[in-house]
Amino acid sequence: MDASDLLQLAEEIAREAGALARRRRDEGVRIAATKSALADIVTEADREIEDLIRARLAAARPDDGFLGEESGAERGESGLTWVVDPIDGTVNYAYGISHYAVSIAVVSGEPTPEEWTAEAAVVYTPVVDELFRARRGAGAWLGAEPLRVTSVTEAGALLATGFGYDPATHEGDLARVRQVMPLARDLRRAGAASLDLAYVAAGRLDGYFERGLHPWDHAAGALLVEEAGGLVGGAPSGRPGREMTIAAGPELFEKLRYKISG
Ligand code: IPD
Repeated sequence: MDASDLLQLAEEIAREAGALARRRRDEGVRIAATKSALADIVTEADREIEDLIRARLAAARPDDGFLGEESGAERGESGLTWVVDPIDGTVNYAYGISHYAVSIAVVSGEPTPEEWTAEAAVVYTPVVDELFRARRGAGAWLGAEPLRVTSVTEAGALLATGFGYDPATHEGDLARVRQVMPLARDLRRAGAASLDLAYVAAGRLDGYFERGLHPWDHAAGALLVEEAGGLVGGAPSGRPGREMTIAAGPELFEKLRYKISG
């Protein structure tokens, strides 16, 4: 299987998983547990959908590893690992807000964001039926349309961010918002990191920054941004991760990184 076959597999599974998420949402959502904080919830659908994705991947690619938000990590033997968030935007999902997505990336090398290389990725949002996809070195697309990040304009950047579930981190999150606002024309907090990244890739946002992301939140979206000509990294340097994730076109990326590191 080459990378385009892996991408095709990711697409098929994301569409099936997204359709199930949508169906379960229509039937009514049940919170199954809380995780790192009271606000950090997992629904029964998160678990069911991750199980579905995991089973489909195990059937098609039994030697690959798996790293999922709900069921953890399993090393594989092929050198490839699938990094999965079954429902990114779980709080939106639970509240009946349609902005949520299935996020699937396949990465090579060590299965940690500091070391992996993303090979192919999809972010699928079932309610509006949009599937963003990327393949390393080949590009990123929404349908047949190639994705391209924006360039900075005089009006300032349309930025997005997120706030972690842990109330103890909110003071720092708000201080960071104050630091970057001089660059902004406005700020969005839409509630699904994978879609924030997909929107940067698609030029629907100029830039995005957030502290506290997990690998499955950014694995697929980061490849979309990079393949759309943007940069994704941490601050003050390095790769995206828990400490910080910044994504934007090259010029804005450097400005955001400078402000956030300041
Ligand atoms: C969350 C969303 C949210 C972001 C959080 C993530 P989840 O993922 O992406 O936008 O602010 O940091 O954990 O819990 O909905 O899969």
